Amino acid sequence: MLLQIENVLSADELVQVKSLLAQAEWQDGRVTAGTQAALVKNNQQLSEKSPNISTLRNIVLTALSRNPIFFSSVLPLKILPPFFNRYGGSSNAYGAHVDNAMRMMPDGSGYVRADVSATLFLSDPDSYEGGELIIEDTFGSKGIKLKAGSIVIYPSSSVHQVSPVSKGERIACFMFIQSMVRDPVKRRLLYDMDMALVDLRNAAGEVDAVVKLTGAYHNLLRLWTE
Ligand code: NI
Repeated sequence: MLLQIENVLSADELVQVKSLLAQAEWQDGRVTAGTQAALVKNNQQLSEKSPNISTLRNIVLTALSRNPIFFSSVLPLKILPPFFNRYGGSSNAYGAHVDNAMRMMPDGSGYVRADVSATLFLSDPDSYEGGELIIEDTFGSKGIKLKAGSIVIYPSSSVHQVSPVSKGERIACFMFIQSMVRDPVKRRLLYDMDMALVDLRNAAGEVDAVVKLTGAYHNLLRLWTE
């Protein structure tokens, strides 16, 4: 499932993130790429040693944890600590690749299986040219460029790329998430059901059928979560 969620970061959080990143030291982005991806990756990334990285990660993870659409669509079990990247100048593109399935936690505490990838856009889209995230799926390829503070989630299994940034700079945050529900078809079904239940509850109130359907949703969650 490919889903865009607007305004994940509040205006204040966005200002804070941007000011922390304005002082950032960027390094070659290939440090976190797999062998295939490293061949086509040409961007910069915030160093793990950056003094601001834990504050930045906390802001993003706190924002995600209060977002009901993110929770319902991803059903996150584990999130690899988010990374921050920059495209611009001569380090300005990331060719077609898939994200590695297994990612080691930076503290060495084990692996996260990447089921869902997410890109949180941090630069004003009018401030740079190019830099679309292009995701291929069975319906064809889709180019995505969101306003600052909005996120797109997409299957880690999809072939995707970032088109060259020809002017300005594109700063973003990206992350890999292991879902409680491994099967994307089941995850999609649960999301559709949850959203329909919200609509139904708003339209009909807390009637018996809504209560029973809510129960069915949670029972499916019980069956399918790991
Ligand atoms: Ni990727």
